[in-house]
Amino acid sequence: MVKEARGRNLFFTTEVAATIESSNVIFISVNTPTKTFGIGAGRAANLEFVEKCARQIAQNSNSHKIVVEKSTLPVRTAEAVKRILKSATNPNASFSVLSNPEFLAEGTAIKDLLNPDRVLIGGECSEAIEQLAGIYGRWVEPERILRTNLWSSELSKLTANAFLAQRVSSINAISALCEATGADIDEVANAIGTDSRIGPKFLKSSVGFGGSCFQKDILNLVYLCEHFGLHEVAKYWEQVIVMNDYQKRRFSTRIVTTMFNTVSDKKIAVWGFAFKKDTNDTRESAAIYVCRDLLEERAKLTIYDPQVSLDKIKHDLAALMTNGSGELSENNRKLIESNVQVADSAESAALGAHAIVVLTEWDEFTTSDFASVYQSMRKPAFLFDGRNLLDRKILAGFGFEVHSIGKS
Ligand code: UGA
Repeated sequence: MVKEARGRNLFFTTEVAATIESSNVIFISVNTPTKTFGIGAGRAANLEFVEKCARQIAQNSNSHKIVVEKSTLPVRTAEAVKRILKSATNPNASFSVLSNPEFLAEGTAIKDLLNPDRVLIGGECSEAIEQLAGIYGRWVEPERILRTNLWSSELSKLTANAFLAQRVSSINAISALCEATGADIDEVANAIGTDSRIGPKFLKSSVGFGGSCFQKDILNLVYLCEHFGLHEVAKYWEQVIVMNDYQKRRFSTRIVTTMFNTVSDKKIAVWGFAFKKDTNDTRESAAIYVCRDLLEERAKLTIYDPQVSLDKIKHDLAALMTNGSGELSENNRKLIESNVQVADSAESAALGAHAIVVLTEWDEFTTSDFASVYQSMRKPAFLFDGRNLLDRKILAGFGFEVHSIGKS
């Protein structure tokens, strides 16, 4: 898409001031990570970058501009953006602020862009809303373009992610019960998903959700609720994250207890590090947490991910294993240096390993040569499938001892 449009109606530039001057519509699309310092640290969104954008727009505007919030923002951020824009000194400058949250998911971004479930535009000025709707209207059916007030639009983005994450945490909660009772989580998910009121999507039990959005947006929602004194509501949504943390920890504990209560000095092949398939993004990936737990048990990890480099893996582990005052202890640094390596294929990662741990659902793992993988491993050859990706019966046929999520 970029190749086709670049130089035609898509241009990249670092000339911010001149581009603001010549634009009618300006999208603010900077990131809004969770604050790591000061008030609201660990929960609230860091709006530093959004504010800087708004100030730059105010400084360089000389006519009417439609300013679109594309970044995911806490509710009522538009109010702050509007106030900053009011500081514009050019008498010809005026602004309409719209909220137009992004709903595309990584790995399927282009598909989602071309065929969105809906486009949401929140605002106060109907003329500005219609201008933006007109752009989307070139490829999106009119009934899929929703118009709301500013605050509904901002809140809908956080709520959509909170609901999606809640489904994953709900099915993961039931996976623990399945393991205890002998029920099968995929069968349960299928049975409940056929109820049209529940629906089949986002019911895949896993080692836990990751990605840059779910946790950040829920923390943000929790912070907002607390800000408005809605403590019960805050606690309710926080539980989605508590359950996710539990699921990650539960999985690594299961690995250790199954392997005779020790993984110390044992080689473990880790298949996948990205937070989901078809992306190289590792932000909040469950893999970082599971690998941290295994490293703390002194396991030796050989990681294979088709898109994630050793540097990135070490960087993520170091960030997680850093203490509250931002220091990586000498012990943890050595552990990461000496006990983490990468392989150039899933098969070679498993060579001589005591166990395989599947942490990302990459398609290529399903076509591995499991007969020779089994031959090359120590026995018993354990396989912990954190994505319920592989066929347990076939693997058991080769001799593997398979442990999946939500299956006893
Ligand atoms: C998510 C939302 O799905 C998008 O609609 C939203 O626009 C985006 O966040 C955002 O706010 O930017 P994304 O994080 O890219 O998209 O990926 P998802 O497909 O939602 O997956 C999130 C995590 O949940 C992954 O770790 C995935 O493996 C996990 N997951 C998802 C499950 O464990 N089970 C499922 O059934 C579905």
